[in-house]
Amino acid sequence: MRWREPILCALALTGAALAQSNTVPAQTLPVEIPPAAPFTAEAVEKGREQFHRTCAQCHGRNMVNAGTTVYDLRKFPTEQRERFYNSVTNGKGNMPSFKGALEPEAIELLWNYVATRGGKEL
Ligand code: HEC
Repeated sequence: MRWREPILCALALTGAALAQSNTVPAQTLPVEIPPAAPFTAEAVEKGREQFHRTCAQCHGRNMVNAGTTVYDLRKFPTEQRERFYNSVTNGKGNMPSFKGALEPEAIELLWNYVATRGGKEL
């Protein structure tokens, strides 16, 4: 099926180009988790947008889901930032890894959103 190769290649390149704006290659991701910073309303709002682009399809709009097969993020322990980074970066169970797909800055925005329960506990 040689004719398929150029198509697949074009798809891969398009994907890479689309991904480039908000991703860094996995190998450049810092192993260490950046120091915790205070939550801000602006970061919560950006986190909300990021969440609805990359997480809401499974975790539900505004984090609302039954919590039966997919974790209910409204209950995520707010003192476990490291666990959050770890699960988002490496994936867990049926949740995919976001390594290489999300910069640490983007994960921090998501953390602002999730750990403040969508800004309710700012
Ligand atoms: C394809 C569906 C899917 C997507 C997309 C997804 N998740 Fe998940 N997520 C899951 C499932 C399923 C679990 C439960 C995993 C388990 O405990 O086995 C989970 C669990 C979690 C947990 C709890 C993990 C733990 O430490 O117990 C966090 C935090 C989380 N997701 C955050 C996110 C964030 C943030 C995003 C967006 C970047 C995201 N998820 C995108 C399906 C998804």
